[in-house]
Amino acid sequence: MSQTSLPRRLLLGPGPSNVHPRVRAAMAQPMLGHMDPRFLEILDEVQASLRRLFGTQNPMTLPLSGTGSAGMEACFVNLLEAGDRIVIGVAGVFGERMCEVATRIGAQVTRVETPPGTILSDAAMAEAIERVSPRVVAFVHAETSTGVCQPVEAIARTARDAGAFVVLDCVTSLGGLPLAVDRWGIDATYSATQKCLSCPPGLSPATFSPRAVERVGERTTPVQSWYLDLDLLGGYVGNERRYHHTAPVSAIFGLAETLRMVEEEGMEIRTKRHAECGHALVEGLLPLGFTPLVEAAHRLPMLVAVSLPDSIRRSGEAALRRRLLDSYGIEVGGGLGSLAGSIWRIGLMGENARLTSVESLLHVLRRELT
Ligand SMILES: Cc1ncc(COP(=O)(O)O)c(C=O)c1O
Repeated sequence: MSQTSLPRRLLLGPGPSNVHPRVRAAMAQPMLGHMDPRFLEILDEVQASLRRLFGTQNPMTLPLSGTGSAGMEACFVNLLEAGDRIVIGVAGVFGERMCEVATRIGAQVTRVETPPGTILSDAAMAEAIERVSPRVVAFVHAETSTGVCQPVEAIARTARDAGAFVVLDCVTSLGGLPLAVDRWGIDATYSATQKCLSCPPGLSPATFSPRAVERVGERTTPVQSWYLDLDLLGGYVGNERRYHHTAPVSAIFGLAETLRMVEEEGMEIRTKRHAECGHALVEGLLPLGFTPLVEAAHRLPMLVAVSLPDSIRRSGEAALRRRLLDSYGIEVGGGLGSLAGSIWRIGLMGENARLTSVESLLHVLRRELT
């Protein structure tokens, strides 16, 4: 095998984001056993910090082993049994992925769609919830494929009032926007470490309400995934400390360090930092001919989706992204699904939500385009 020699990148795509040296150093610490009392102390601290970040008292709050998609699967395999009804809000690729996961479980999926770049309508979700009377209602808080920030409270309230469990995807919002899982009435939510937490990919912070955990205990069929079965996972992350699978120790060291940094900074300042950077980026892109896909009120700060000027579409947007990467070491994301070729997705997540990142990108774009 050749020696690893990696280029330096400024990662301004939809994730992963750049990892702070403090996190890299934390991950390089000596290995501990996953039953070592010192490691278990760190795991406890991580769980407590995640509760604060999610805005929840849920005892079942944990870093799942796996990326954000593992978090999505964990919510669905635990809460759904074959034949159960679920209403899913589809505002982009990740709502679409929810439908795929729920269908594989054998659930009856009702989709409520909205055009790319727009939010789900409260009324359309309410109509579907009333018509279907689902066991679960699921939607995405920060739709990374379109840059939309979905208002949560009204849909969650309607779902709860109808007796449904509410699943929310917070992959791109955790650590960049304030979350209030308990106040919003969310039963299960998951995130990922490689977005606004600026850790390497590999863990999915997740939290489950006591009624969601109870529901898992009342299932008539076993959870289809042994690895993601909450009952079994609870044996390790709860008080019993029973072996289930080997915890990814180094990744949890990294997460612990990131969470320390988030708490040192405070979510108020961190939220403001993301908002300022998102705003500055849009302001700088407008004169270059880019137009935001999403109206200002529902625009994500940490993932800015912009329609491309005709000149870039004509000359090939992928070629320009490649030039940014090769010549300047800057990564930006292209469009996904139906938006491929027509938008860019520019991430300012966690460590990358800095005006220096914004200015670096704008500088090279001005140089390339004018
Ligand atoms: C909103 C959203 N949900 C789910 C996922 C899936 O996460 P992962 O790629 O970490 O499995 C992503 C990844 O970008 C995402 O942005």
